[in-house]
Amino acid sequence: MKKRILVTGGAGFIGSHLCEELLNKGNEVICVDNFFTGSKQNVIHLLDNPYFEIIRHDITFPLYVEVDEIYNLACPASPVYYRFDPVQTTKTSVMGAINMLGLAKRLKIKVLQASTSEIYGDPEVHPQTEGYRGNVNPIGPRACYDEGKRCAETLFFDYYRQLRIKIKVIRVFNTYGPKMQPDDGRVISNFIVKALKDKDIAIYGDGSQTRSFCYVDDLVKGIVKMMNSSDDFVGPVNLGNPTEYTILNLAKKIIKLTDSKSKIIYKPLPEDDPKQRQPNIELATRELKWEPNIQLEEGLKKTISYFEKLLKNT
Ligand SMILES: NC(=O)c1ccc[n+]([C@@H]2O[C@H](COP(=O)([O-])OP(=O)(O)OC[C@H]3O[C@@H](n4cnc5c(N)ncnc54)[C@H](O)[C@@H]3O)[C@@H](O)[C@H]2O)c1
Repeated sequence: MKKRILVTGGAGFIGSHLCEELLNKGNEVICVDNFFTGSKQNVIHLLDNPYFEIIRHDITFPLYVEVDEIYNLACPASPVYYRFDPVQTTKTSVMGAINMLGLAKRLKIKVLQASTSEIYGDPEVHPQTEGYRGNVNPIGPRACYDEGKRCAETLFFDYYRQLRIKIKVIRVFNTYGPKMQPDDGRVISNFIVKALKDKDIAIYGDGSQTRSFCYVDDLVKGIVKMMNSSDDFVGPVNLGNPTEYTILNLAKKIIKLTDSKSKIIYKPLPEDDPKQRQPNIELATRELKWEPNIQLEEGLKKTISYFEKLLKNT
């Protein structure tokens, strides 16, 4: 059955892929975005589709639309942008959550919150299961994002317990793919752009810190599966790729795949930078029958080809 679905942050990196997937599945999509970190370019190929609408709106203000489901993704996700205006970042997570939960309450519909692995902070437990409560510095420079997202989770669960709102909470781990911004400071886009320009690639610390990377197509499938899972499975559920890579190995892989002349240089580790981050996805595998399938090399090739085209046209 065709549903009318609201995607906040729909012009962003993950949101634009999600809009496309939901349209491909035969739904109507209303994309809401204030274009802070997203762009019309990300959804330009969808604008001719009569079932796709775009609304310029800031979710810290109430929104009145008639829809059947809400995916709440609006929030800058890269440190460069979320630290640019930390107060607005927290407002987006907290007031945005209140507004979307209020809309879900009025319409009696399901609402999915895109939370983040950052709620685990610099984890003392490895890999992180959903039961781990995190190690977050509440007054550090990343707190506007981490604590904002933690508070949004609190609100989702209080609306669920107190007001019986149908909620779904996912904790997204590092995701990459086409439509990431070239200058957002996230590790994969940063390394690819530097490599394509033959510029030095800076590694913070000795490069032994690990990250796991999920290709965006895999993630979007997981998000939709979570929304469509039974109402009593509310999460939070980790969605990410558990295969770990050191940052140094990632840099070397990207240099090789782009046939680049870039050199690796070393810089001091920034404050509150997590040393390890790896999802335990047993819950998602069991409850959603979901796991990522796209290997890093395959995903990197697709992402590199996107950035090659983007850099040629700028
Ligand atoms: N990309 C990742 O690796 C990752 C990891 C963990 C969690 N997430 C979460 O997934 C969601 C999407 O992330 P992304 O990587 O696509 O980021 P993104 O910055 O590309 O997309 C966020 C979108 O939200 C919009 N937005 C920001 N503030 C808004 C506001 N107040 N009102 C309306 N729109 C607003 C931006 O313009 C942008 O289009 C975010 O909630 C993020 O926290 C992403």
